[in-house]
Parts: sequence; structure tokens; C-alpha cells
Amino acid sequence: MAQLIVALDVPSADRAEHLIDELYELDVIFKIGMESLYGYPERIFSYCEARDVRYFVDAKLHDIPRTVGAAMRALVRPGAHIVNVHALGGPEMMREAVAAAAERAAELGTSQPHIFAVTILTSHSSGDLAAIGLHGDAEANATRLAMLARDAGCSGVVCSAHEVAALKARLGADFLTLTPGIRPGGSEHGDQRRVMTPGQAVAVGADYLVVGRPITGANDPLAAARAVLDEMRAHA
Ligand code: C5P
Repeated sequence: MAQLIVALDVPSADRAEHLIDELYELDVIFKIGMESLYGYPERIFSYCEARDVRYFVDAKLHDIPRTVGAAMRALVRPGAHIVNVHALGGPEMMREAVAAAAERAAELGTSQPHIFAVTILTSHSSGDLAAIGLHGDAEANATRLAMLARDAGCSGVVCSAHEVAALKARLGADFLTLTPGIRPGGSEHGDQRRVMTPGQAVAVGADYLVVGRPITGANDPLAAARAVLDEMRAHA
């Protein structure tokens, strides 16, 4: 059964903590993305650990291998269920990230987080890919990058739900997919381009669904998250 990840993309630690409390009973995974990671890192990690919730560090590391390895060591902590890097950082960088995570988890005596690689951002259109010099469509690029990620030892990739079926066909069902760009029917797309509903994403085989604004911006985040989970279960 696919799991729901709620993106804690809110500007203050107070609001992030409030969201964790509101959604606590649902046993979802919380995503610590750039807004919380750069804005209030110590508060958010301490709170997640104090409440013993699972979290995904959406750090999107992309630098030279040694620097990424060092950053990974700093990010692996108890409770870190997933940490990610950019596949465009290349095979050596991804291998270094996987090795550093394993080493640090062993030192801390915690379980090793899954390392995921971002393929193509879900906000990118085909025009954006051409502008940055990537030939081919999003699916072809995501598949190529996913193969590099798998060979480097990553557990899976961050991709659009539109790419899940092709990736699973090519790389096998066990290679995990984590999909942002999820929009329940009727909600705003914002800056996301390649979107799917929660039910559609589950039906194509996505393993983790990331939902941010449709839950965090709702008048009642708990009700909005419950509705997403109900839709996911209905399509499992
Ligand atoms: O609010 P929304 O549901 O669009 O949030 C999606 C989250 O997933 C954001 O935190 C964004 O940074 C992240 N993300 C993404 N596309 C990727 C990787 C991560 O939207 N390819």
C-alpha cells in the first residue's frame, strides 16, 4: 500500500509543529523540505524526534561527491526515513551519498534511511527541459536518470506519477517511486505541471505520494489528509 508524505512547507516552526500535531493520528511521513530545512532545522528535527514521527529530508543534495557525502552524514539521524539527492549530480555523487548514509547509520545504531534520487522536477515542462539542454521528453530523461540511480545503490527515485508505469516496467516493481505533483480533484495546480490525483497515482503503482499545499493550505488539514488517504485506499 502506498504511503502518504505531507510536505511541511510552512514558514515557521510553530506552524510546522502545529501541522505535525494536527496530523499525528494519521501516521503519515512528514517531509522536511528546503523551507523548513533552511528556516528552522533544529526545531523541526527535534520536534519530529520528540514526537517519534517518521520524516523525509528533502535536501535534494547536488554538489561534488565529497561534499554530498559530508552533508549526508550530517542529515542522517534517528527518524530520517528517506533522504534525497539529485540524480543529475551523477553516479559517483550518488554512490558517495549511499555509502555515507550507510556508514553514519551504522555509527549511530539507527536503521539506514532510503536514499532517493530526484530525476526531473515535476514543475518542469518539455520547454524547460529543452531550455536547460536536456534532449528528449521527461519520461526518457527520468528513465535514464533512474537507471543511474539504481546502479548507484539508491532505493528509488522522485518522479512525476506520469513516469511511474514506464519506470517500473524498465527497472522492476521493487525500485521505489516517490511522486510529488499530486493534486486531489478540484485543487489548484500552483507551479506543478505534470500532476495526477492521489487515486491515479496509486493506480499506476507509486509507492510514496507527496502532498503539500492541498493539505497544508486547507482550512482543515486533518480532513484534507483523511480525504487523500481515503482516495488512496480506494484505488489500492
Ligand atoms: O505543495 P505541493 O504539493 O506542490 O508540494 C510538493 C513538494 O514536493 C514541494 O515541497 C516540492 O519542493 C517537492 N518536490 C516537487 N517535485 C520534485 C521534487 C520535490 O514538487 N520533483
